[in-house]
Amino acid sequence: MSVSTSLAPDWLLPPSDANALADGVWPASARRDDDGVLRIAGVSASQLRDEFGTPLYVVDEEEVRTHARRTLAAFRAAAAPHGVQARVYYAGKAFLCSEVVRWVTAEGLAVDVCTGGELAVALAAGADPARLGFHGNNKSVAELENAVAVGIGSLVIDSWVELDRLAAVAERAGATQAVLVRVNSGVHAETHDFLATAHEDQKFGFTLSEAPAVVARIRECAGLEFVGLHCHIGSQIFGTAGFQESAARLVELHADLLAGGDIPVLNLGGGFGIAYTSVDDPTPIEALATGIVEAVVRECAARGIPVPNLAFEPGRAIVGQAGVTLYEVGTTKPVEVDGGGQRLYVSVDGGMSDNARPALYGADFSTRIASRVSTENPVLVRVVGKHCESGDIVVDADYLPADVVPGDLLAVPATGAYCFSLASNYNYVPRPPVVAVRDGSARVIVRGVSIDDLLAHDAGLDRGRVAPSDRLERTEGAE
Ligand code: LLP
Repeated sequence: MSVSTSLAPDWLLPPSDANALADGVWPASARRDDDGVLRIAGVSASQLRDEFGTPLYVVDEEEVRTHARRTLAAFRAAAAPHGVQARVYYAGKAFLCSEVVRWVTAEGLAVDVCTGGELAVALAAGADPARLGFHGNNKSVAELENAVAVGIGSLVIDSWVELDRLAAVAERAGATQAVLVRVNSGVHAETHDFLATAHEDQKFGFTLSEAPAVVARIRECAGLEFVGLHCHIGSQIFGTAGFQESAARLVELHADLLAGGDIPVLNLGGGFGIAYTSVDDPTPIEALATGIVEAVVRECAARGIPVPNLAFEPGRAIVGQAGVTLYEVGTTKPVEVDGGGQRLYVSVDGGMSDNARPALYGADFSTRIASRVSTENPVLVRVVGKHCESGDIVVDADYLPADVVPGDLLAVPATGAYCFSLASNYNYVPRPPVVAVRDGSARVIVRGVSIDDLLAHDAGLDRGRVAPSDRLERTEGAE
């Protein structure tokens, strides 16, 4: 079969070896065994399929732990020469379950949650409430009450409404709740670029100019203790420039606010990018940490103020590279496209229900055959799911050996962040379990959601089914 490469995006070049596993995209433990089968943490993909079925989220525990350790060490090493501490919160929204909470807390990370549900998972896993942070733009009274009652380390105030709500909750509870104020620094880094705008048109936080009044009000509330500013400029950001610019603006505000009292911490959020394909080249976390901390130190020195303790909230950078999703190929179909190009569509047994990122953000992923190697020439493929949407794409463009066939196992790397957490049961497609692999063994850490589970939620079934007589009359058109 000859498949043209003309439909490939500019950045994607045919690989010299369509079996190769790109460095930095796969877990460090990923390799092929003597039969060419992919192994992660010593566990073969074929064995995983036999034991757990497909689709399957696979997460390499040691890879998560390594990123957690490395990130904490990087920020601590950057902060220590300046006599301040750095705390790293794992942003649970990237992928939260009790095992992950245990892994990251064992490696010294605190945990950041943004809903009562995420808080419940962290607490159920046994996390120390004092080492939890809770942000989000619409925390309910019940969520705030619960957070204060369990003794949460800090809450991030996002609006005037919430300020009043939390002040009342804390007073009723007789607590003194540590709070930060979410500030929108006006640095917009999603596009790998940043621009200054006076008023970002988005839902999070207060503007820089509003923040002093917010902090003044907090300082008047008996039940609240203002501990610092909080900012998060976006996600999947490469490079340090946006973080540095944002840090500079935050330090300026922080310096002004010192007139009203001590401010022990400055939380600069998360957003550190990872590689999804072989052409992505994220800045190493050590360089990011040094660059960001040095920007803060420089700005503090320029204003003659002490450097505050620093906090960060990476999610994707901790878990992203640790995840690999396994699928089975169901059908293949070469499609001629106007203009002469041809693309091989490869349909797998999952899709936008287990990985919504391509459909939501146009995100790129890559793929390899996991169950074997092949010496066939690479062809341009688009890996698609089984949902009733043409936008149901898992891997928009990559190359696979031309003999890819139904029954092959495909692996999609870098699915550890925002895949399980964004999953749905669209089209009543079951939700895959999550299996952790470590030292040659595998265990389920989150059970899947089966069709029986879904039917059990259908309360109408408790009240009966379509009566046989109704079925007959309708189909015959009798009235
Ligand atoms: N802190 C705050 C306040 C956040 O809003 C976020 C992410 C993080 C930390 C963690 O960001 P990270 O280090 O993981 O980039 N679903 C999207 C990403 C949404 C991120 C939302 N906030 C995606 O799949 O790309």
